[in-house]
Amino acid sequence: LELHQLIPEDHTVEALDLLAGLRLEQHADEQRPYTVVNFVSSADGRAAFHGGSGPLGDETDRQLFLGLREQAEAVLVGTGTLRVERYRRLVSDPERRRRRIRAGRSPEPLACVVTRTGDVPTEAPLFSEPEMRIVVFGPPGLELGGCEAQVEVVQLDPGELTLTAAMRRLRGGFGIRSLLCEGGPTLFSGLLSERLVDELFLTLAPKLAGGDSAPGITSGPELPELAPLTLVWALEDGGSLYLRYRLG
Ligand SMILES: NC(=O)c1ccc[n+]([C@@H]2O[C@H](COP(=O)([O-])OP(=O)(O)OC[C@H]3O[C@@H](n4cnc5c(N)ncnc54)[C@H](OP(=O)(O)O)[C@@H]3O)[C@@H](O)[C@H]2O)c1
Repeated sequence: LELHQLIPEDHTVEALDLLAGLRLEQHADEQRPYTVVNFVSSADGRAAFHGGSGPLGDETDRQLFLGLREQAEAVLVGTGTLRVERYRRLVSDPERRRRRIRAGRSPEPLACVVTRTGDVPTEAPLFSEPEMRIVVFGPPGLELGGCEAQVEVVQLDPGELTLTAAMRRLRGGFGIRSLLCEGGPTLFSGLLSERLVDELFLTLAPKLAGGDSAPGITSGPELPELAPLTLVWALEDGGSLYLRYRLG
């Protein structure tokens, strides 16, 4: 997948090689996984169009989305996104699975879900995949039986049901060193407010969505102060910009 790199140097890059060089797990500390977030946005800042993010991205965005998945030991997603984006097995391509194994990862990332209400959309195809391991962080009493996937519920008391606690458990209890959050906006805002994000991969699509009902890539209370970003790279293809930012 050859893309035009604008920053840091103007030249042609093999994007999947760039992603393979990320080695996200090497940046983890003992407290939590190294955490990167991936979003696509319209040029007017919308993270969805007609209810989903699918129309915003193009084939290159899809390849980068899957390429990033290939790099992560675990993938975190909110229940809102699970409900609308029809999540299924995370890595279905046999070649990608082989590459994960060669890189010392499991063939499938651990899928992670957080919920306060316990209303988990287990009808999403992900929960019917026997090969998937899914951990759900939720309130006391939450049980999710009858799924073909291997589902483990971690019950946290309401006062302890923070993303910080979930991340600590992922690192200490599940041995996860690299985590990719695929949204949605509410979950991303929660991660930001608990200062749990290391990097943001943002596709800026050359499209306008209009309207004011769809969220941006964040949703919820404003942060107490602006979170500064450092641009690490900017890639371009077909008018789409693929931006990699470091938080801070
Ligand atoms: N453009 C993109 O790249 C992109 C990516 C992802 C999603 N989206 C779009 O975003 C929209 C969905 O947005 P959303 O904000 O509703 O989705 P979301 O962030 O995926 O889900 C929100 C839900 O996740 C759970 N949650 C979030 N933060 C939590 C926390 N700190 N602790 C415990 N649980 C937490 C809660 O579940 P409970 O209600 O169960 O308690 C909350 O209602 C869809 O239109 C989707 O297409 C776009």
